[in-house]
Amino acid sequence: MQKTVKLSNRIEIPVLGYGTWRNTDPSECVEGVKNALLMGYRHIDTAQMYGNEELVGEGMRLSGVPREEIFLTSKLNNSNHGYENTVRTIDESLEKLGTDYLDLFLIHWPVVDGHEEDWREDNIETWRALEEAYEAGKLKAIGLSNFKVEHLENLLPNCRIKPMVNQLRLHPGLLQAETVAMSREAGMAIQAWSPLSPIPQMAENETIIQMAEKYQKSIAQLLLRYGIDKNYIPLTKSVHEERIKENFEVFDFELDQADLDFFDQWEWQGDIFL
Ligand SMILES: NC(=O)c1ccc[n+]([C@@H]2O[C@H](COP(=O)([O-])OP(=O)(O)OC[C@H]3O[C@@H](n4cnc5c(N)ncnc54)[C@H](OP(=O)(O)O)[C@@H]3O)[C@@H](O)[C@H]2O)c1
Repeated sequence: MQKTVKLSNRIEIPVLGYGTWRNTDPSECVEGVKNALLMGYRHIDTAQMYGNEELVGEGMRLSGVPREEIFLTSKLNNSNHGYENTVRTIDESLEKLGTDYLDLFLIHWPVVDGHEEDWREDNIETWRALEEAYEAGKLKAIGLSNFKVEHLENLLPNCRIKPMVNQLRLHPGLLQAETVAMSREAGMAIQAWSPLSPIPQMAENETIIQMAEKYQKSIAQLLLRYGIDKNYIPLTKSVHEERIKENFEVFDFELDQADLDFFDQWEWQGDIFL
């Protein structure tokens, strides 16, 4: 049984999720989700934007793992903001995924095309639709993604139901400390996307190579464990069976404080997509 943490509304969320971004090849996506569930993952992350909700649903069904054992997240597409669109497309996501509820639904991005000027009102209106779907039982938890301090400052005072999650890009070299602190103060759990981004930059680093030897773990496993030890909920994606398995073998060790500090101080080189 995978370790879980409780969201602010007492819903339990497994601390490691299987992501599906850029996974639109039908057999790779279906097989990836199915394999992840068969290997023990119980948390799947998709989004309307990924265009693979049907494939994710198919992988879940083929795995044979009962729906109620799976924590399933989807996210609102940027083109679907606004109260009416959100109400409609939550139902569309449920239909595509072949389920009558989502465990978590997020506003994917705070500022989207066409709402550069009125994003404040747009976020509040959009959130109202999530609150209603939550109260109707279609969404077991609701939250945000890529919301930074100014976006949180706008939305939080205007929520009837507080968001339970903020999903952010987080890994060594990108700590987003102010956003993480503010989200946590407001009661949100933190999910970490693209946790494996530093692998290419770390692969040649002597300290990291020694750290991998010390723990007898791969760099990917060190990075996922870093996320768990920081009390994030990392989401990780692979279409390769052996990597899906490797990425799940992170529950038998913890990083020392010195190694966590080393990762915290890692400097990112180059541009970063946020
Ligand atoms: N909220 C947002 O805006 C947002 C944005 C991006 C992502 N996400 C979510 O977060 C999830 C995770 O982010 P991500 O997809 O960027 O995942 P990631 O786990 O950080 O990185 C995935 C990349 O690393 C490779 N990889 C996976 N396991 C590996 C291993 N053990 N060793 C070496 N390379 C490995 C994968 O390639 P192969 O597939 O070829 O193995 C893939 O190219 C996404 O899938 C999505 O669900 C959310």
